[in-house]
Amino acid sequence: MTSKISFLYILVLSAILIICHAHHEFLKDLNGTRKGDHANGLIELKKFLSYLGYVNPANSIHMNDDFFDDELESGVKEYQTFFKLKVTGVLDQETLNLMSKPRCGTPDHYFMRNSEVNHSFEKVHLSISSRYRLVKAWPPNKRNLTFSYSPNTRLDAKVPIVIAFRKWSRISPFRFLITHGRYVDGDIKIGFKRWDHGDGYPFDGKGGILAHAFYPPDGRFHFDADEIWDTKVRQGTLDIQGVALHEVGHILGLGHSADRNAVMFPHVEYGEPRKNFSQDDIDGIRALYPNN
Ligand SMILES: *[C@@H]1O[C@H](CO)[C@@H](O)[C@H](O)[C@H]1NC(C)=O
Ligand SMILES: *[C@@H]1O[C@H](CO)[C@@H](O)[C@H](O)[C@H]1NC(C)=O
Ligand SMILES: *[C@@H]1O[C@H](CO)[C@@H](O)[C@H](O)[C@H]1NC(C)=O
Ligand SMILES: *[C@@H]1O[C@H](CO)[C@@H](O)[C@H](O)[C@H]1NC(C)=O
Ligand SMILES: [Zn+2]
Ligand SMILES: [Zn+2]
Repeated sequence: MTSKISFLYILVLSAILIICHAHHEFLKDLNGTRKGDHANGLIELKKFLSYLGYVNPANSIHMNDDFFDDELESGVKEYQTFFKLKVTGVLDQETLNLMSKPRCGTPDHYFMRNSEVNHSFEKVHLSISSRYRLVKAWPPNKRNLTFSYSPNTRLDAKVPIVIAFRKWSRISPFRFLITHGRYVDGDIKIGFKRWDHGDGYPFDGKGGILAHAFYPPDGRFHFDADEIWDTKVRQGTLDIQGVALHEVGHILGLGHSADRNAVMFPHVEYGEPRKNFSQDDIDGIRALYPNN
């Protein structure tokens, strides 16, 4: 009897694991793949790395085939550099493990589609000792930010989102106020979206990309409606408050951090404990708004 139950338990667990990882299925046969190889899954990998800003399609004639070219190698090296992995340009197990974890879809690099990002600002503020990245700041006269919810926003998300705003208020000069006007009038526009939703960064169903937000002064802040969202930290669900805390960092102008303890680290797993700000997050927001 007990063995039957534990067998069922294992069956259910593996089904959950398979569903959770369905999105990065293309990574599973790529262990050890390197420049010059042909391998199933490299097309999807190139799309994924291009979405995140590591591969520039303009530099590759192999975007639509499974050949591992120079541009992919330089993208893999840049990914490994960003996350402080061994920089080999080879798809080793450590690199694939990190890539297959769910994450925020805001790109780690900005050389292509985010033309509104001030690249010289980013360069000036990229310090070698720190891990945080500053992308863009709100102007000095803008410290009260209004937020609005798109009409389809799930009601149970509102309290966790407000808590996330309140946490950032404690370590930054910003106040967050709900707008009494229309959705489009909020400085921060919050919504649950699915698949292609018109901003150039489509979501992908459950797993994979979980949410994203745009830098100042854009303010769009989207959750992937196909994830299993929750108001609590629980096995098998995603904590709205934890993800919101990360996305508000982008709304304020912080990029991704390579510090795994930082709220601004891009990867987060289902059931993962909720993070509090690390020293890296605090140093980042202070460096972005030094006079407040
Ligand atoms: C990936 O390749 C490495 C080196 O060849 C090997 O040690 C490791 O076991 C492989 N991992 C998997 C999951 O196949
Ligand atoms: C971009 O940032 C640099 C460095 O902070 C600044 O000197 C420059 O004026 C900014 N340019 C624009 C268009 O905001
Ligand atoms: C923000 O709002 C507070 C209270 O309403 C006000 O005292 C303050 O001057 C405002 N700050 C800015 C920068 O508008
Ligand atoms: C979270 O971090 C902030 C800033 O360091 C601190 O003020 C607060 O007490 C921390 N909260 C918890 C629950 O540890
Ligand atoms: Zn992010
Ligand atoms: Zn979006």
